[in-house]
Amino acid sequence: MPETSTVLRIRPLDELDISAIIRIDEKISGIYRPEVWETRVMYYTRRDPGASQVAEIGGRVVGFMLGDLRAGEFGLEEPSGWIERFGIDPDHRGKDLGRRMFDAIRAHFVAEGAKSVRTLVDTNDHGVAGFLRAIGFTPAPLQALELRL
Ligand SMILES: CC(C)(COP(=O)(O)OP(=O)(O)OC[C@H]1O[C@@H](n2cnc3c(N)ncnc32)[C@H](O)[C@@H]1OP(=O)(O)O)[C@@H](O)C(=O)NCCC(=O)NCCS
Repeated sequence: MPETSTVLRIRPLDELDISAIIRIDEKISGIYRPEVWETRVMYYTRRDPGASQVAEIGGRVVGFMLGDLRAGEFGLEEPSGWIERFGIDPDHRGKDLGRRMFDAIRAHFVAEGAKSVRTLVDTNDHGVAGFLRAIGFTPAPLQALELRL
């Protein structure tokens, strides 16, 4: 039996996880932004309960992956899962936690009838782009456009 402090668990996101996510994001980005995460976590727990996931080690949340099922947006009638934000505490990377959270959110999307999973990535962010490639994402024919204001 492993020690309690090393027990790994992937489970659905809960509203009580907000403070842990604020802490992980601050560790990654160096920015403390509670309002941003309060809004995002409330949005995802209400919009698609059970989709977004967190990773716990010894009962402490060390990673999160937020997403939801969508259909009809941008003329995409086929239901697809969308992954928006994710992060793993830098002290707990390389332990398959990102992949395991993705497996869990993906299983949820499949159960909801999704035919694909979509996301947007900044191709200059080599870490995130490399992770997405490693878990199976490939470039899509859809292209993100923007017009600066
Ligand atoms: C990208 C990130 C989620 C990876 O998490 P992780 O738990 O360390 O990844 P895993 O251990 O599950 O790795 C899964 C696969 O991705 C690959 N991978 C992970 N990080 C990678 C990187 N930086 N470059 C290339 N591949 C990478 C692994 O090699 C592994 O591939 P394999 O199974 O073929 O060996 C994590 O580094 C992170 O949180 N980055 C910062 C994200 C961010 O900026 N978030 C801002 C807040 S939204």
